[in-house]
Amino acid sequence: MYRRFLFVFVLGVILATNVVSQNSKSQDGESFSFAFLTDIHLKPEMNAPKGFQMAIDKVNELNPDFVLTGGDLVYDVMRGNQARGDTLFSLYKKMSAGFNMPVYNTLGNHDLFAIYAESPETSDHPDYKYGMFERYIGKTYYSFDHKGWHFIVLNSLDVTENKRYTGVFGEEELKWLKNDLAKVDTLTPVVLTTHLPMITSRAQVKGSNGRGNVSNSAEIFQMLENYKSVLILQGHIHWKEYGVINDRIHYITGGSIAGNGWKGRRHNTKEGFVLVHVNVDDFTWEYVDHGWEAERLKNAKLRE
Ligand SMILES: [Fe+2]
Repeated sequence: MYRRFLFVFVLGVILATNVVSQNSKSQDGESFSFAFLTDIHLKPEMNAPKGFQMAIDKVNELNPDFVLTGGDLVYDVMRGNQARGDTLFSLYKKMSAGFNMPVYNTLGNHDLFAIYAESPETSDHPDYKYGMFERYIGKTYYSFDHKGWHFIVLNSLDVTENKRYTGVFGEEELKWLKNDLAKVDTLTPVVLTTHLPMITSRAQVKGSNGRGNVSNSAEIFQMLENYKSVLILQGHIHWKEYGVINDRIHYITGGSIAGNGWKGRRHNTKEGFVLVHVNVDDFTWEYVDHGWEAERLKNAKLRE
């Protein structure tokens, strides 16, 4: 009798503990997901709005806590033309309001207004370089906290004297980041988004020179030296890869929404986005197909 009572009592305690830990888990918010969509390249042509809408619908169906974008929201404003730029950013603003959760945007090279020499606008135009992005979207670098994780959105771009974009974190931005990290415990998992890659296998796999990566990433890696867990999410090269360095720094290059300018795969990677599942201070991720390839192939067949 006593043994039976003891068994029921112990079982009761185990069940109660389980319920409590499950509750406290969701209350502490230790388990959540977020989506990372990069290289959207939105424009009115090429059926791109349909492709972006498919991605938005897929994200809403999966219902992560929020969306991070990896830059190249539109295609493109580097060659200037204010009317065209306004059309593109208005379209992006309008469509991205269709996400059922907050969206945190990152700046991409194609979002830099009128930076190329052939642009009819000059550098005193109020929308020049970051201006148009700031007017429509907001700050080009910032941070926020979510359920015990710290998220940092970086501006990886500047313009050279000969009017090309270049991959660099600015001095002001690095100063800001240092202050920002001073408030973040080294045990807190840190996520960074950057359009141009901070670290990637591409140059070695493709035999290219690595131009298009950020030149001073090491300064940020040094600031993060004591952090227990760092995840870098990056775009630009429409390349899908995952790497982990010394059990501590993880990086994901998130493929792309647009593929090769909405015309097909780039680097034979299907159009899609990254979904990150966080569990306490750990994570898993998957690459989600939002159905654009099937749609694209169906349309190509209809045209035959
Ligand atoms: Fe891109």
